[in-house]
Amino acid sequence: MNRIKGKVVIITGASSGIGEATALLLAEKGAKLVLAARRKEKLAEIVTTIREKNGEAVYKETDVTKPADNQALIDYAKEIYGKIDVIFLNAGIMPSSPLSALKTEEWDQMIDINIKGVLHGLAAVLPDFISQKSGQVIATSSVAGLKAYPNAAVYGATKMGCA
Ligand SMILES: NC(=O)c1ccc[n+]([C@@H]2O[C@H](COP(=O)([O-])OP(=O)(O)OC[C@H]3O[C@@H](n4cnc5c(N)ncnc54)[C@H](OP(=O)(O)O)[C@@H]3O)[C@@H](O)[C@H]2O)c1
Repeated sequence: MNRIKGKVVIITGASSGIGEATALLLAEKGAKLVLAARRKEKLAEIVTTIREKNGEAVYKETDVTKPADNQALIDYAKEIYGKIDVIFLNAGIMPSSPLSALKTEEWDQMIDINIKGVLHGLAAVLPDFISQKSGQVIATSSVAGLKAYPNAAVYGATKMGCA
């Protein structure tokens, strides 16, 4: 039994890497996808690839650090597909440096994207999941959130926050 067919799945961070690969796999299995990230040209290319293989996908330019973008993403998914079954909160960045380098702007960005971006997505979708009494939330954590390693102190903290 294919439990993915027909499910409406939002993926943030869908313009490359894990998000893109997940989108292509779920499309093959019959999910209806809403792909989100900042690089809309990349999203458009991925949607084209999916549709060429008879999959179903749309995209929405989204910056997960902005609550209004997260809400617009949820609204768009409902407008297109009428419901949301799953949200995959995968957008994230992984700059690497020792704490002693004091790259405090990068620390802020990691907190804004990897932690607050996940929370904004959650806040936007939860009212619908509560009212429909169903819905799955998945976030991308990392081994870095479970085990400390050099040059990843802040990254690891943000990924622990997604675990
Ligand atoms: N690669 C690894 O070894 C690894 C291991 C464990 C966990 N992870 C986690 O896996 C997730 C995906 O990473 P990846 O390896 O696939 O790297 P990636 O190819 O760089 O993908 C990161 C994705 O996040 C999106 N993104 C970044 N900032 C964003 C923002 N402000 N708003 C919306 N989207 C944003 C990027 O899209 P735009 O730039 O177009 O916005 C891109 O689609 C991350 O959460 C990462 O921490 C990665």
